Amino acid sequence: MPSGARERKSVCIAGGPKAVNWRDWKLAAAASDPREALLLGIETSCDETAAAVVARGADGSARLLSSIVRAQWEEHGAFGGVVPEIAARAHAECLDEIIALALKEADVSLADIDAVAAAAGPGLIGGLIVGVVSAKAIALATAKPFIAVNHLEAHALTVGLTDGLPPPYLMLLVSGGHTQVLLVRGVADYTRISTTIDDALGEAFDKTAKLLGLPQPGGPAVEKAALAGNPDRFELPRPMKGRAEPHFSFAGLKTAVRQRAREAAPLKDSDIADLCASFQQAVLDTVLDRCRKAISIAREGTGNEIRHFVAAGGVAANAALRQGLTELARSEGMDFHAPPLALCGDNAAMIAWAGAERLAKGLTDPLGAPVHPRWPLDGSAEKVRGAGVKA
Ligand code: KG4
Ligand code: ZN
Repeated sequence: MPSGARERKSVCIAGGPKAVNWRDWKLAAAASDPREALLLGIETSCDETAAAVVARGADGSARLLSSIVRAQWEEHGAFGGVVPEIAARAHAECLDEIIALALKEADVSLADIDAVAAAAGPGLIGGLIVGVVSAKAIALATAKPFIAVNHLEAHALTVGLTDGLPPPYLMLLVSGGHTQVLLVRGVADYTRISTTIDDALGEAFDKTAKLLGLPQPGGPAVEKAALAGNPDRFELPRPMKGRAEPHFSFAGLKTAVRQRAREAAPLKDSDIADLCASFQQAVLDTVLDRCRKAISIAREGTGNEIRHFVAAGGVAANAALRQGLTELARSEGMDFHAPPLALCGDNAAMIAWAGAERLAKGLTDPLGAPVHPRWPLDGSAEKVRGAGVKA
């Protein structure tokens, strides 16, 4: 965080509104510079209800004033995945309270806010509507601008908030719904270099966890189990490794884990740990190979001007992946940046920050702006065979 930030706490409400987990995170004091823009951000695209307040100075400096996240794991746990209707209802039930908490934590009122940003896609349509309608209502009532933020753009710009890193940079965006390498040239200026042709990486972690009987979200559970496992015990494929095109594939890897698990059944804890460690090692080998390929393609296309490699999205919280990408970037003469763990997964601080960046460029949206369940960052990117909606 920028200097001057003082230590406070943000809140993560897991389950019912009364179950409050305090998470350490550096937050700034309430805004004092009149040239700063204060943004309220709202995130409801999947299974996290979140609100945050961010300040952006005229020089592009960032201050995070509050970040409240309510995860819905308990609501979806019994179903083994996110149920869209349950997610939308859960957002509707608690969003007002989450927004009030974010304002209180930031020590500001709606009258102090300069603009309201909400994730308008991609994501589950019911949840998107809940967040966007709330943001529009606040914008209308306070006569402030509304900004429809692309959730992927918010992940892509988070390092501006956390590390003060402006574009251009090359970015691995790895979440539950997306796996892409993007050249981030600037706000609203993205070139997709690679994407997955089947499952997203977070989805592969979640499905692997499910088939091994581990809890959701699967990524942290697999990462934890892998710590005690032997990564060399099970032979697993490295999909797409060495291929000339820079794309990813994870469906075959997940199927191979299922096969190995069947062969080793009944599974002891040590078998599960070894399967998780072997899966994570295969992921690492293939992701680093694909990123190396994407770096060489980006360099050819930009005359070697890209100096920073960034990772963002929920899977970027994975310590082994962060370590591997740090080493890859170093070996390629680049530096590596990733948001702190609390801001890798879905949150509203990134929505508020993307809104602030757009506001600074005069990019606001009408109150009639629609939500976009599918909303690629690079609309002109070539279709990739088999990629379906995740491209
Ligand atoms: O960005 P995110 O919060 O939501 C989407 O936009 O999809 O990403 C969620 C994904 C889930 O699939 C979750 O299992 C994965 O990120 N994830 C992880 C880790 N923490 C979260 N995957 C691997 N290792 C982790 N530590
Ligand atoms: Zn996300």
